[in-house]
Amino acid sequence: MVERLVDVEKVQGSNPCAPTIFLMEKKILVLPGDGIGPEVVEQGVKVLEKIGKIFGHKFSLQYGLIGAKAIEEKGNPFPKETFELCLKSDAILLGAVGDPKYDLDPKSKIRPEKGLLEMRKKLGLFANLRPIFTFPSLFSCSPLKSKILKDVDFIIVRELTGGIYFGKKIFKENKAVDFCSYSKKEILRVAKIAFDLAKKRKKKVTLVDKANVLATSRLWRHTIQEFAKKEPEIKLEMMYVDNMAMQLIKNPSQFDVILTENMFGDILSDEASVISGSIGLLPSASIGKKTSLYEPIHGSFPQAKGKNIANPVGTILSVSLMLEISFNLKKEAEVIKKATKEVVKEGFGTPDIVKKNPLSTFEFGKKILEKIEKIC
Ligand code: IPM
Ligand code: MN
Repeated sequence: MVERLVDVEKVQGSNPCAPTIFLMEKKILVLPGDGIGPEVVEQGVKVLEKIGKIFGHKFSLQYGLIGAKAIEEKGNPFPKETFELCLKSDAILLGAVGDPKYDLDPKSKIRPEKGLLEMRKKLGLFANLRPIFTFPSLFSCSPLKSKILKDVDFIIVRELTGGIYFGKKIFKENKAVDFCSYSKKEILRVAKIAFDLAKKRKKKVTLVDKANVLATSRLWRHTIQEFAKKEPEIKLEMMYVDNMAMQLIKNPSQFDVILTENMFGDILSDEASVISGSIGLLPSASIGKKTSLYEPIHGSFPQAKGKNIANPVGTILSVSLMLEISFNLKKEAEVIKKATKEVVKEGFGTPDIVKKNPLSTFEFGKKILEKIEKIC
């Protein structure tokens, strides 16, 4: 809980980064993971430390293992030690998991991604929030026309601990099966999060499913329609996933909150990242029963590992989401967003968003840190 020692507004006035008046002590678990994970997380941590210093919060950082790194050191992509650290933390910052080394054997049960899936399940992280927005100065990085990108601002709420990801799996020589199951309870708890978000936004929820074919989708549709009756201020719209794949590219500004099941949400959020210009820009939050997890939506990008070229913005904005959602530090979160936007607007960035004289991951992170200092 945030401890308000004095009236913040009175003391701080209009200065966004004014004297320290909150006393906040939080334990943050950092899981750098694989590929470019450690490089981008390093920049996120620097931002966290800078904000802590400026505003006087104490963020104690602990580090843990996950993914391929954890397999190498502990023989398990989500070791018991990491789970225990998660339970003791107030929030988790993660880089990425995945290593192509494990793609070779399709029967291999031990995969880095399993660490992430197990973490989501064991921590009950049932709702994944992926905000999709644009930086007007980066319109040219998107293959879409600027007039389509104008006014895009929506959030994908992806169910994260159910569906085909977690159903029973059978793998035989000539046949494989993945079961997809959803209960009403699983649907309702994530629906509540989506509708609550919509209330603070443009008051519209679009449910994405494949109810013309799938039984699970019919349960989703029925359950959400019933639920929406108790939420008259929210406009509910339903869309088949194939149509959504098209609408996201054709007319993305029509959306506010997109609610969907696990695998549709995975696929659609990668597609939607094209709108922002680079998948490296987008953050995410996974919330649920215990502590929450914050991570960029991109993967481990093994080809870029160690090259100091990965975009740190997705991670830095994930830190901003952490401050806002887990710790209710709205001003601090806003400072990070503002600094990032300004640096991008000034034309700085890694090679994914800047073609001429791009910055390295480290330099880009440093520019954002300097901007934070300047704003404050
Ligand atoms: C994501 C990733 C994961 C997923 C992988 C790494 C298991 O793609 O977070 O979107 O499919 O959920
Ligand atoms: Mn994905």
